[in-house]
Amino acid sequence: MKKYTILLLGSGGRESALAWKLAQSPKLEKLFIAPGNGGTMQYGTNVALSPLDFPAIKDFVIANSVNMVVVGNEDPLVAGIYDYFAADAALQNVPVVGPSKEGAMLEGSKDFAKEFMKRHSIPTAEHLSVDASTIDDGYAFIEKHQPPYVLKADGLAAGKGVLIVPDAQEAKSQLRAMLDGMFGASSSKVVLEQFLSGIECSVFVLTDGDNYKILPVAKDYKRIGEGDTGPNTGGMGAVSPVSFADECFMHKVEERIIKPTVNGLKQENITYRGFIFFGLINVGGDPFVIEYNVRMGDPETEVVMLRIDSDLLDLLEGVVTGTLADRVLNIDQRYATTVMVVSNGYPGSYAKGKVITGTEHVDGSILFHAGTSKSDDGALLTSGGRVIAVSSYGATKDEALHKSFANIEKIDFEGKTYRRDIGFDLK
Ligand code: AMP
Ligand code: GLY
Repeated sequence: MKKYTILLLGSGGRESALAWKLAQSPKLEKLFIAPGNGGTMQYGTNVALSPLDFPAIKDFVIANSVNMVVVGNEDPLVAGIYDYFAADAALQNVPVVGPSKEGAMLEGSKDFAKEFMKRHSIPTAEHLSVDASTIDDGYAFIEKHQPPYVLKADGLAAGKGVLIVPDAQEAKSQLRAMLDGMFGASSSKVVLEQFLSGIECSVFVLTDGDNYKILPVAKDYKRIGEGDTGPNTGGMGAVSPVSFADECFMHKVEERIIKPTVNGLKQENITYRGFIFFGLINVGGDPFVIEYNVRMGDPETEVVMLRIDSDLLDLLEGVVTGTLADRVLNIDQRYATTVMVVSNGYPGSYAKGKVITGTEHVDGSILFHAGTSKSDDGALLTSGGRVIAVSSYGATKDEALHKSFANIEKIDFEGKTYRRDIGFDLK
């Protein structure tokens, strides 16, 4: 059996969950996480490397005989880490799980993603892309459509680049402000979209470019406030499975969205070996794509990994060797939930460096650290807005949630905050 020394890039709850799952594989020789966090060292060795410093990653990979790189977050993919490895004689034999730079444009450019969907007849909101020279067309699009108006920065904007505006006058002034640099260079092009009304879910697939496997479906809760109110965050919790994503809905997702996406990438000779994240909205029983991401979701990964009842590393080996069709993916039929414990003030400004206590008393949940660090004397400290994802299994959604909430009571730090209503809108 071939063994793998893996370098996993990233530092959030998603990477903790990936590390937890990879660490269970009999095919794992050694796991490095760069840069990791205060919890990932339970599963491997943290390495102080930036996921965007490709030359430093190259040196590390060679010095430590790394033979697989798993990319957690989108930035290195959009910056072209796949192509960097493919073009370097010393790295060519080290597979990177993730798309090529061109494939990563599905997330790196909303305009690219919308045009791709149009070419392959994949259901998504009607759109128009504009830049400073075509702003008048943008105004006309706004006038032609009903409120609310959806305005999206074309490029990566750390999840902040989408505005939903209730009236036409304001939409026009926001369009101008975006093109004038509201989100820096990422909004020098803006995608205007028809507003779709429905409930959202996250569908993930692994693909080797030819075949794909559908991972468990999840729903995340993006807003900071209970009842889905207040500003967007990276995600406050997640649930899997998703009651409305039943067999009939998922059949439509597979036929109308997943197959045309995987086949479309292949037809266009876009190299893609990794995760595809379909951000979907259910409009009267029909799925539409809200966005693509080229990585797993966070905090969805903190429930999806619990429900994969097969060796993740075996699946990833299938991805990088083009043999995914021969691999087995079993799904755990239990529910999985995660509740994110965050720092008071998040997603605005918040304190860091608060001592976290009580994690040793947690029983019956899995803690995926997100924004934590270890001090020199071994104390666990907060180091981010999203601090720890408390993940649990249950025979029902409520049973799993109950475990997560009960364990959150045992964890403490100054400013501890969380949503008590994760899963409220699902059966
Ligand atoms: P995105 O970054 O494209 O996922 O957009 C962020 C959020 O804005 C999504 O999760 C949706 O809640 C919302 N959104 C984006 N596009 C639309 C749309 N066309 N209609 C309704 N809501 C949308
Ligand atoms: N939870 C949404 C995301 O990872 O983008």
